[in-house]
Amino acid sequence: MRRVVFNQKGGVGKTSITCNLAAIGADMGYRTLVIDLDVQGNTTHYLVGEIDAEAFPAEAQGVAGLFKQTVGSRRMQKNPDSFVWETPYENLFLMPSSPTLSSMEKELESRYKIYKLRDALEKLDDEYDRIYIDTPPNFNFYSKSALIAADTVLVPFDCDSFARQSLYSLMDNIAELQEDHNPDLEVEGIVINQFNSQARLPGELVAELEEEGYPVLSTYLGASVKMRESHREHRPLVDLAPSHKLTRQYLELHAELERILSRAAA
Ligand SMILES: Nc1ncnc2c1ncn2[C@@H]1O[C@H](COP(=O)(O)OP(=O)(O)OP(=O)(O)O)[C@@H](O)[C@H]1O
Ligand SMILES: [Mg+2]
Repeated sequence: MRRVVFNQKGGVGKTSITCNLAAIGADMGYRTLVIDLDVQGNTTHYLVGEIDAEAFPAEAQGVAGLFKQTVGSRRMQKNPDSFVWETPYENLFLMPSSPTLSSMEKELESRYKIYKLRDALEKLDDEYDRIYIDTPPNFNFYSKSALIAADTVLVPFDCDSFARQSLYSLMDNIAELQEDHNPDLEVEGIVINQFNSQARLPGELVAELEEEGYPVLSTYLGASVKMRESHREHRPLVDLAPSHKLTRQYLELHAELERILSRAAA
């Protein structure tokens, strides 16, 4: 199954949620692929650290390599799996981002390559139990490609009042994309991130979202400096701090999502 994590607002936790849920699944034995569609490359950096730019020419690697061949010679087409890297973690694989994604975007868009990611990932469905896609904080060619390629979307929400405003336009964008391109896309839910139960505003905001009918997931993720340490050390929480409170919340969120999946399959 393919899950995209998307919110066009920056810094809400897309990368953290993508990598940590993927790492938990991999740790449980699911063969898991993470695709980094954000030119910032934070997921790539989080999971594998610095990349040796000389050893891996930017335009030939990962997501950039995959997209580049859609505008190149038909004879040279490689299997999408050849753009996948191993990570230090068992069962966890990465299709890395690269800085060239931004210069390629206009051409890909003008040549209608918006369905190419979906076509490529369909070929990988048998190889991986779970495919996670991290997206940039924009509703651009790459995030649209991801929403078209995915079965489900998770929307992180970071409990500030601006986040709520942007949630309305985000949900509109997702609804339009469903209508135009991917009617099967399921909104799995809104993930409350960096929730502070001591303050009044976050609780009120979440209650209002629920009243308005938004599908808020019942597991909330708290805030912890462990997350920053986890990024810095290039070690997902389940590896760095398996019994930390935030890790336990992530495990609970993963379990909640698995329950939703099995209900949907029944
Ligand atoms: N639960 C958490 N507790 C504390 N810090 C967190 C938590 N989740 C994310 N962060 C921190 O917030 C920052 C933004 O997180 P992250 O990079 O995951 O967001 P993003 O939505 O992917 O950002 P961007 O839009 O730039 O891609 C990072 O510094 C991360 O360490
Ligand atoms: Mg990110």
